[in-house]
Amino acid sequence: MLYLLLLAASLVPTSVFAQSCNATSLCGASAPCCSEYGFCGTGTYCLGGCNPIYSHSMTSCEPSPICQDKTASSFAFDIQYTFKDDSRIINSTLYNGNASAYDFTLDNGAIYNLNSSIGEVALLLTQTNGGTRLSTTRYIQYGKVTARLKTSKWAGVVTAFITMSDVKDEVDWEWPGANTTQAQSNFFWLGNVDYTSTNGQKDSISNDSYSNYHDYTINWQENQLEFSIDGVVVRSVKKTDTLDPSGVPEYPTTPARVQLSIWPAGINTSAPGTVQWAGGMIDWSDPDYTAAGGHFAVVINSLTVQCGSSSNTTVPNTPRSYVYSGNNTQGVPQAYISNATTILNSGAVASRLAVKSTTLWAGSLAASALALTMLFFA
Ligand SMILES: *[C@@H]1O[C@H](CO)[C@@H](O)[C@H](O)[C@H]1NC(C)=O
Ligand SMILES: *[C@@H]1O[C@H](CO)[C@@H](O)[C@H](O)[C@H]1NC(C)=O
Ligand SMILES: *[C@@H]1O[C@H](CO)[C@@H](O)[C@H](O)[C@H]1NC(C)=O
Ligand SMILES: *[C@@H]1O[C@H](CO)[C@@H](O)[C@H](O)[C@H]1NC(C)=O
Ligand SMILES: *[C@@H]1O[C@H](CO)[C@@H](O)[C@H](O)[C@H]1NC(C)=O
Ligand SMILES: *[C@@H]1O[C@H](CO)[C@@H](O)[C@H](O)[C@H]1NC(C)=O
Ligand SMILES: *[C@@H]1O[C@H](CO)[C@@H](O)[C@H](O)[C@H]1NC(C)=O
Ligand SMILES: *[C@@H]1O[C@H](CO)[C@@H](O)[C@H](O)[C@H]1NC(C)=O
Ligand SMILES: *[C@@H]1O[C@H](CO)[C@@H](O)[C@H](O)[C@H]1NC(C)=O
Ligand SMILES: *[C@@H]1O[C@H](CO)[C@@H](O)[C@H](O)[C@H]1NC(C)=O
Repeated sequence: MLYLLLLAASLVPTSVFAQSCNATSLCGASAPCCSEYGFCGTGTYCLGGCNPIYSHSMTSCEPSPICQDKTASSFAFDIQYTFKDDSRIINSTLYNGNASAYDFTLDNGAIYNLNSSIGEVALLLTQTNGGTRLSTTRYIQYGKVTARLKTSKWAGVVTAFITMSDVKDEVDWEWPGANTTQAQSNFFWLGNVDYTSTNGQKDSISNDSYSNYHDYTINWQENQLEFSIDGVVVRSVKKTDTLDPSGVPEYPTTPARVQLSIWPAGINTSAPGTVQWAGGMIDWSDPDYTAAGGHFAVVINSLTVQCGSSSNTTVPNTPRSYVYSGNNTQGVPQAYISNATTILNSGAVASRLAVKSTTLWAGSLAASALALTMLFFA
């Protein structure tokens, strides 16, 4: 049986009161959290994606759930999410920060389970939904993550499997458009778009990535980043390879969520270079689209996560969360492991959610760092 979980189709602000936030305009004390979409608020604005740099203070965002074993006694874990049903996936507007209750938030779009016995979830792209994205509720600060998935095969329709931190450190696997034997690896530091050379690399896949499952791995560790396809390392980057002229490593270091998505690059609001990168404009009259009842889909079979660790972090007795403390002398935001709860003020959750749901969609995925990636191929 198909279980269709629909998110609000409209990404247009429904409240005119949401204050925007950015590098030159931080949030005020009454609505201290800058959401990943760049709007100030409370409650769920303070959860996944809340940007500490643009918030009222570096500690305004709710602490981020740590990568942790369900047994809680062990910091290291290796967990496989198998998508046999949707019970551990929650609409992000309804989430309260309890990562023990949910493994993923559905941030935009719609999903459905294709096959509960083997565990397959489809992420849908329609002409109006702007794409679909799942984010893990837990963060990793280093780790090895493997997604087993089938990609898009349609021009302009991009598949992505990335790690994304709240301050825009990012590691990507992406499959742009129509070439089903190519994957692209990439990484970004603090959303920095001033690189003089591209960090992107094209890698070959042994056979059709639309018809066949392959394992794509991001092995992000403190001093080295590796990308693998079907267990074979195809790219290795050392932190020391990323030093800028003044010796600052332009290397992702901050706690990140793992995100899986399908998104439309081949649309007329995209930059021409983006459309070209993605293989052209999307053909919404494609027989695959119409035969499916009006959507394109990518299929995820599993996501495996092994926590890594930072040598510069002290683990408290009951580790629960990552919390930002401030910048180091090189201007790089620092997070540490804390025992602070990640759950929104329990007594006030209901009313906060009620207030917030009116403005949460005041932004779109296009404004997120998914779009950042494209600049490097544009
Ligand atoms: C998710 O939340 C949005 C905003 O509150 C709502 O419009 C939508 O119906 C919700 N979807 C589901 C499946 O609950
Ligand atoms: C930053 O936010 C302020 C306040 O909302 C807004 O006036 C300004 O246009 C924004 N700047 C940018 C570059 O978006
Ligand atoms: C968090 O979720 C877990 C699992 O559903 C539940 O046992 C626990 O009571 C929840 N914690 C709070 C504070 O709501
Ligand atoms: C689910 O997958 C299994 C194993 O491939 C297959 O036997 C079964 O027919 C599939 N079920 C559906 C509903 O497609
Ligand atoms: C598809 O990608 C592969 C691997 O990068 C490349 O060798 C091939 O030329 C590409 N095909 C087309 C039609 O661009
Ligand atoms: C495609 O490649 C995968 C990984 O190398 C392999 O396991 C699978 O058998 C191949 N499928 C076909 C149809 O060749
Ligand atoms: C983009 O495409 C839509 C639908 O095809 C069309 O209505 C709109 O006018 C186009 N916009 C531009 C700027 O070309
Ligand atoms: C180690 O962590 C502390 C506290 O977060 C920070 O001030 C310091 O800069 C970090 N050192 C390195 C080498 O990252
Ligand atoms: C911390 O570093 C970030 C990224 O370099 C920068 O945008 C921000 O202004 C810095 N904050 C402070 C308080 O120095
Ligand atoms: C966190 O640890 C400190 C120091 O051990 C302790 O005083 C505090 O009660 C702990 N907080 C929670 C929420 O466990």
